[in-house]
Amino acid sequence: MENVAIVLAAGIGKRMHSDLPKVMHKICGREMVLYPIDAVKSANFGRVIVVISERMDKSVFKGVDIAYQNVPLGTGDAAKKGLDKVKLLPNDANILILTGDNPLVKSSDIEKFYNAFIESRSDAMLVSADAENPQGLGRIIKNGDVFERIVEEKDATEQQKKIKEINTGIYLFKKGALEKGLSMLSNDNAQGEYYLTDTLYYLKNKGFKVGVYKLERMLPIYGVNTRLELSIAEKIIQREILERLMLSGVTIVNPDSVSIEFDVKIGNDTIIYPGTLIQGKTAIGKGCSIGPNTRIINAEIGDGTSIQFSVVMESKIGANCTIGPFSYVRPGNVFESNVKIGTFVEVKKSKVDENSKIPHLSYIGDATIGKNVNIGAGTITCNFSGLEGPHKKNSTTIEDNVFIGSHSTLVAPVVIHKNAYTAAGSVITREVPEWALAIGRSKQVNKEEWVKRRKRNV
Ligand code: UD1
Ligand code: CA
Repeated sequence: MENVAIVLAAGIGKRMHSDLPKVMHKICGREMVLYPIDAVKSANFGRVIVVISERMDKSVFKGVDIAYQNVPLGTGDAAKKGLDKVKLLPNDANILILTGDNPLVKSSDIEKFYNAFIESRSDAMLVSADAENPQGLGRIIKNGDVFERIVEEKDATEQQKKIKEINTGIYLFKKGALEKGLSMLSNDNAQGEYYLTDTLYYLKNKGFKVGVYKLERMLPIYGVNTRLELSIAEKIIQREILERLMLSGVTIVNPDSVSIEFDVKIGNDTIIYPGTLIQGKTAIGKGCSIGPNTRIINAEIGDGTSIQFSVVMESKIGANCTIGPFSYVRPGNVFESNVKIGTFVEVKKSKVDENSKIPHLSYIGDATIGKNVNIGAGTITCNFSGLEGPHKKNSTTIEDNVFIGSHSTLVAPVVIHKNAYTAAGSVITREVPEWALAIGRSKQVNKEEWVKRRKRNV
């Protein structure tokens, strides 16, 4: 039997008040529509067609077919655009249709629904649920126990609005029945749209077998239409991510204060402290200590590393490093193991080899730092040439075992060779040879008795 899923995702989402199409809003770091796509894929619907508009970034969708609906004429019209992609399937193929704005639907819900559909030999079936607050959703009108039709909120009478059983926006059709139902649609309703929901009414009247499957669990929302509902979905999915991590061996202190995005990986025995936000494709090793109050974006962090009160972006950090408190690790850094980046230190596009330390108050940019280097407090790399174009940034090379005295100013491009020292307060503008001490400051002069003389003259 052929199974195809069509995910409807081309609507604008007026109630979001956004320039971004609704289903592209992110929940825990990924587009909302990817959650229902995941759910159908793991429920044995290997072939998925997602209906989007041309103004949406199609690179978000991997491993699915794309159909376009450029004018949002309604869910019925969107379903038609999806169905056009599978015209050649036999009439008894199973077509699952679901709205792309329901990130809370699970593959287990879909599996149970699918089994009920197959067992009942229906031509069409929808998933209903009892909603605590049904406002805005389509209501299920029944005659006794028998399905009659779905009435949208905007078309409903006051009496119908009191009905709690709603349409979740998940349907299964035999392909032939779906084709027939869609061909009968009109847009004669309050919204002037082609409603997919009306197909069920038409099919029923034409003698097709139409069923209702009631969802066992109650969800707090059955679709994200507003940013308030977006935040409700975010909270639930965030909790699922944190629970998955905790059950796999990650300690999360005060989970309500921690945000970790969907694709983040964290090794066991790592502890995440309050106020921490971990984003993108970040991968954190085992036995790390992260936070409190830390933001990490797309970074790779080795085992045993500790990061507190800091921001780390798009960098690769080795094992047993110490970052923070109050470090700003900007994109493009590679730190090997046992590196220390300390308080009020900003590092950008730099390589720092094993056992090197930048403990206090420094700016290091476009630098290559060898092993066992100590960078004194307040050291600055002057990497900006003041020019635009290819010579905008100049590099600083500091080889193994170098000692940079406090408050050194390293004017790039410059190389400081192995085992050299720079004297505190130096402005280094020229290459420093191995084992040398570079002093780049004016000599101190002590004027004996100067203070006494000054006092006598006033
Ligand atoms: C729809 C159902 C409603 C149900 C609810 C469940 C209809 C007419 N109504 O209402 O009965 O209770 O879902 O959440 O189907 N879309 C398109 N093209 C369009 C319009 C919408 O692709 O022209 C997509 C949207 O991107 C969205 C989905 O279809 O992902 C649902 O559209 P939405 O406008 O949110 O429908 P609801 O009014 O919530
Ligand atoms: Ca909706």
